[in-house]
Amino acid sequence: MERRDFLNNVGQVAAIVCAGRLLASCSKSEDNPDPGGGGGGNARLTANLTSELAAVGSSKVNGNVIVVRTATGNVASSFVALSLVCTHEQCTVNYDPADNDFKCPCHGSQYEITGAVKQGPAPSALTKYTISINNNILTVT
Ligand code: FES
Repeated sequence: MERRDFLNNVGQVAAIVCAGRLLASCSKSEDNPDPGGGGGGNARLTANLTSELAAVGSSKVNGNVIVVRTATGNVASSFVALSLVCTHEQCTVNYDPADNDFKCPCHGSQYEITGAVKQGPAPSALTKYTISINNNILTVT
């Protein structure tokens, strides 16, 4: 290989690498797996416990994810984080604070606050997510 051919090859490789980095930097914000707007790279939902979720029964929703305070104290066990997607035919369930459960408007399934099936036809529990709390920031992953 002559010197000129070698330099041409190096230049082409460098151009491909640069183009790849340019395209990566142009990715849309929807590509960001952090729909909660902070609190972790792959958080499904975040809440600042100094101003949110103060009362037992209060809740916060982000997309198809809900977190509900089930007890006092800013520890993970005082909350439950669930998917709002019904396991029957994927309708969105509604949290009912009065009954402390979830109800599906499509075919009547009901879920306990833990996500367990209370009444069918739902075949299985709502998907449960992990909760962590650090410096009063609750993060659902
Ligand atoms: S989709 Fe929820 S009960 Fe059918």
